[in-house]
Amino acid sequence: MFSYINFATARTLRKARWLQENTLECNKLVVDFIILEGDATLLAIEDDIRADLAKVGVDVNLRALPKDEFNVAMVSGDFNLAFSETWGPPYDPHSYATSWKAPDEAYYAALKGLPAPNTKAVLDQKIADTLLVEDETAREESWSEILNILHDQATEIPISGKSIPAVMNSRLSGYEPGKQQYDYPIHKLRVISGSKNVTLAPGAQTGLFQGVGRLDPHSYRPNEFFSNNWVYEGLVEYGPNGAILPSLAISWIVEDVTGGKQKYTFNLRQGVKFHDDADWDCSVAKLNLDHVFAAPLTTPDWHGWYGLPDKLESWSCASPYVLEMIATDSYYPLLQELSYIRPLRMLSPNMFVGGASSDSLTQNSCPTGWESATLGNVTVTCAGVTGIAGTGRWEYLNTVMDPSGEQTDTVTFQRFNDHWDSYGGTDGVEFVELVYYPSQEAVKAALDNNDLDAVIGAGVLDPEAVREFKGRTDFTVSMSEPLQNRIVVFNTAKAPTDELQNRKVMIHAVDKAAIIQKELAGLDEPVDSLFPKTAPYSDVDLTPKWDYDFEKATLLNCPKPEESYSLPTGAIVAIAVSASAVIALAMFVGYMRYKERLGKPVFKSLIDDKAEVL
Ligand SMILES: *[C@@H]1O[C@H](CO)[C@@H](O)[C@H](O)[C@H]1NC(C)=O
Ligand SMILES: *[C@@H]1O[C@H](CO)[C@@H](O)[C@H](O)[C@H]1NC(C)=O
Repeated sequence: MFSYINFATARTLRKARWLQENTLECNKLVVDFIILEGDATLLAIEDDIRADLAKVGVDVNLRALPKDEFNVAMVSGDFNLAFSETWGPPYDPHSYATSWKAPDEAYYAALKGLPAPNTKAVLDQKIADTLLVEDETAREESWSEILNILHDQATEIPISGKSIPAVMNSRLSGYEPGKQQYDYPIHKLRVISGSKNVTLAPGAQTGLFQGVGRLDPHSYRPNEFFSNNWVYEGLVEYGPNGAILPSLAISWIVEDVTGGKQKYTFNLRQGVKFHDDADWDCSVAKLNLDHVFAAPLTTPDWHGWYGLPDKLESWSCASPYVLEMIATDSYYPLLQELSYIRPLRMLSPNMFVGGASSDSLTQNSCPTGWESATLGNVTVTCAGVTGIAGTGRWEYLNTVMDPSGEQTDTVTFQRFNDHWDSYGGTDGVEFVELVYYPSQEAVKAALDNNDLDAVIGAGVLDPEAVREFKGRTDFTVSMSEPLQNRIVVFNTAKAPTDELQNRKVMIHAVDKAAIIQKELAGLDEPVDSLFPKTAPYSDVDLTPKWDYDFEKATLLNCPKPEESYSLPTGAIVAIAVSASAVIALAMFVGYMRYKERLGKPVFKSLIDDKAEVL
């Protein structure tokens, strides 16, 4: 047989060998990765992702941008990759998914490249329709369809499930992690020794604590979720696995009424006091609703970022402890949204400008900085609030500024002993003092020398420090369950991430478990889906898994030498005309060796690769 090999086929064979022995030849892709300037952890993760992508021919152009520029790039779609996080309970999946309609989140621009039939417009409509589905099984199916559409289009690289850490020194015990990102249930802490005054460095929206803002219940930053949640309560509370728990309402019924509307009847808790000794009843609930949902404030510029303001048609008191609400339709997340920390938690009537008879148009509780809001012929004038008083477990005591008067030094809260569910034992915390520290290193040093009792929240200590405290016997570290998924969003509307295949290449190229070990001190868990499995309707089996799989990534973006070599027609003709079976066999053996090196038998893999969407 060897005698049949002529010059041309010998050259062909040499070339095939050469190609096979050389390193992977990948398609060159260049992607823009935008990141918010100054976040050391995200920068470190980006660096690892870049190294992983380089191995399969994808070059990352990093753009670390200040917040304003970052937002512009994100909203206008001037990126290929961007970090994001789902919002966690009680917002996942419905509020986060609804937010893609408005230019606030990376997905707003990133999903614009979704192909027919499930374009972004179709997806937005499916999400809106799903929120009106009353039947529980049908609703599950509807969410499953939405999650499958996103999954099939490989719209993001799921990285890790974020857990919220808490580090306590040994004079404290009994801490149970909260149920959402900024839920810090310190009323469960027990003081084993020393003073009932506890110092705490809390995780804030900016990472390190800077202050508690206005601490009014009806607005946003610089208020902090965690302290608003301590001071103010709503009608209901969000519990584990999407359960809606009683708070200032003890029970409720929901009924269909004429016109496709729904009526909610709440029985309100009796005997509840505000921190300023005012009584809670339906008139106070109505006063709060009248102010927060005055028509001009329900538009997207104000509170209309979520569904409730638009869905609530009216509210009234049937009796002193019975509140009735009419919803425009069967919007299923209504109770869930009533649990949100802002903007509808209940303020003491004494704290409204004008007191219990405050006018919701001329003396609205919205912050004076908002000035006014107009809708049609109705104008709301923001008058702010006159003080801080809710019904929550913690009462605001005072703020101490540093000597310059520019920076909050400490903020102190006192246990509210008249709380309807207060802990009556003698070993509870009496005062909690929030302490400002200029750096993560300073927080760590303060914990170390017992100046500081506790840290609760993300971003206060670096992950490595949390790991270190975990290994010590003089501290207790608790982690919440994974609450939010960290993801890298692809822009499906900008080359080269507009190609589904390119997105899959990148998903399979990123070794998330290694990144979590290296940059997050192993504290997070790798995830393979957009939403945490614990979020309502999100425990959907999406296949194939979006996991690290270097072989798949290379198969997709780095065609094997044999394959790329076999493509040119000239070469095929040359082989067909002059090659003997030996050559074909030699090449096939080479191909098999190549596949086996990658740990995958050749016949099986060819079938598998077709059967599953890579
Ligand atoms: C605890 O803190 C409160 C409020 O700051 C203060 O009045 C009290 O003296 C403190 N008690 C102790 C034992 O430090
Ligand atoms: C405002 O407009 C509505 C209809 O758009 C009308 O019914 C109402 O009387 C007007 N109110 C005032 C104060 O002009």
